[in-house]
Amino acid sequence: MTQQSFGGHRAVTIRHLTAHVGEEVLVQGWLYNMRSKGKLHFLQVRDGTGIVQAVVFRGNVPDEEFEAAGRLTQESSLRVVGTVKADERSPGGVELQVSKLDVVHVAEPYPITPKEHGVGFLMQHRHLWLRSRKPAAILRIRDTVIRAIREFFHRREFACVDSPMFTPSACEGTTTLFKVDYFGDEAYLTQSGQLYGEASAMALGKIYVFGPTFRAEKSKTRRHLTEFWMVEPEAAFYDLEDVMDLGEDFVSTIVGAVLAERRDDLEILERDIAKLEPAAQKPYPRITYDQAVEILHADGHADFPYGEDFGAPHETAIGARFDRPVLVYNWPAAIKAFYMKRDPDNPAIALGVDMIASEGYGELVGGAQREDDLAALEERIAEHQLPREAFEWFLDLRRFGSVPHGGFGLGLERTLAWITGVEHLRQCIPFPRMLDKIYP
Ligand code: 4AD
Ligand code: MG
Repeated sequence: MTQQSFGGHRAVTIRHLTAHVGEEVLVQGWLYNMRSKGKLHFLQVRDGTGIVQAVVFRGNVPDEEFEAAGRLTQESSLRVVGTVKADERSPGGVELQVSKLDVVHVAEPYPITPKEHGVGFLMQHRHLWLRSRKPAAILRIRDTVIRAIREFFHRREFACVDSPMFTPSACEGTTTLFKVDYFGDEAYLTQSGQLYGEASAMALGKIYVFGPTFRAEKSKTRRHLTEFWMVEPEAAFYDLEDVMDLGEDFVSTIVGAVLAERRDDLEILERDIAKLEPAAQKPYPRITYDQAVEILHADGHADFPYGEDFGAPHETAIGARFDRPVLVYNWPAAIKAFYMKRDPDNPAIALGVDMIASEGYGELVGGAQREDDLAALEERIAEHQLPREAFEWFLDLRRFGSVPHGGFGLGLERTLAWITGVEHLRQCIPFPRMLDKIYP
């Protein structure tokens, strides 16, 4: 027995129906919508790859199958055998003339109807909402982006190395750590795999870490999740300029992959594709923190105090100056993480870089050249009042063949929100976790 054939016909996914015009095929899925007119039922069937209209004509199917089609409710599951007909008016370019219909399950009244629902209601039904056109389009784009990420690094010979989720110490500062009870000891969920990425880069040269990260963000903003996915390349013998070259190569490649593979999904999302296209091209503009502050002073933030970190409105103003993401580098050391190397000519400057998206999506990437000098790093750990014992292993990397190195972290959901043009990051992960959200 196999579910992949029925009545002598092989299952074909809706996405691939255009390659089967004139053939009789099996389509399996769920009823998205339907209307009836006399001897005809027009079923909108979805299978996760697309939607096709299946036309059931009394006389082409046994009477009881025609009646059963009339009783189908939204999201009932079904299998239909039918002939693929080219049809210019239908969205996918084809429709099905049904010859056999098998109702798998008649759905109870479905809570999400074609009428408008509030986001709060839809989020409470996230497990069902995923079936709707826009959420499904975002999930397909997410899949393409993940594959483009892995391919990018594979082609450039970066090895995937996974970092632990339970950690004894902070990476990005102590304010957003989730504490867990680790057999009586205090441990934390990881904020970033970077420190382990650095150890791995000293073993393999070029690596990337790709996995979930956790931040106890107490703010309810559209740009923050408490659980999000981050991809973090790290490479030995990389300086800040190498990190920036890698970052622009990386993000432009991802955008290019989505434009090449998922244009139909971007259209479902009503993304203004012309605004995304420049981001598939290198180079990306590069400005220093000082130049970014000049932009702010000129563009509506005259009172921005030099030396502070940018908030969402500032990132939006800086991003608005450019048609693609901008790299902001050379930051005031005082507002950056302990591990960043200082500018040898000016110790007040950290060799960090943030990539800020156009169109108000904020920071996509944070990265840096790392402090590779043992004494300097020991000093930073003390300055930041971090527990020295938890970092001994990290200091070892500066004791045994220390080299200049660097890397960055790209937030997957931030990047997806920008690429898809959706308002809120919570739409870019299947089951979002936020301050006020852990169900479903
Ligand atoms: O700038 P961040 O904090 O950098 C790091 O964690 C470095 N250790 C990375 C590295 O160099 N290996 O975070 C990196 C990116 C941000 O630019 C943003 O895209 C995303 O992670 N990010 C979040 N995404 C969703 N929700 C949150 N709460 C996020 N915090 C950061
Ligand atoms: Mg950052």
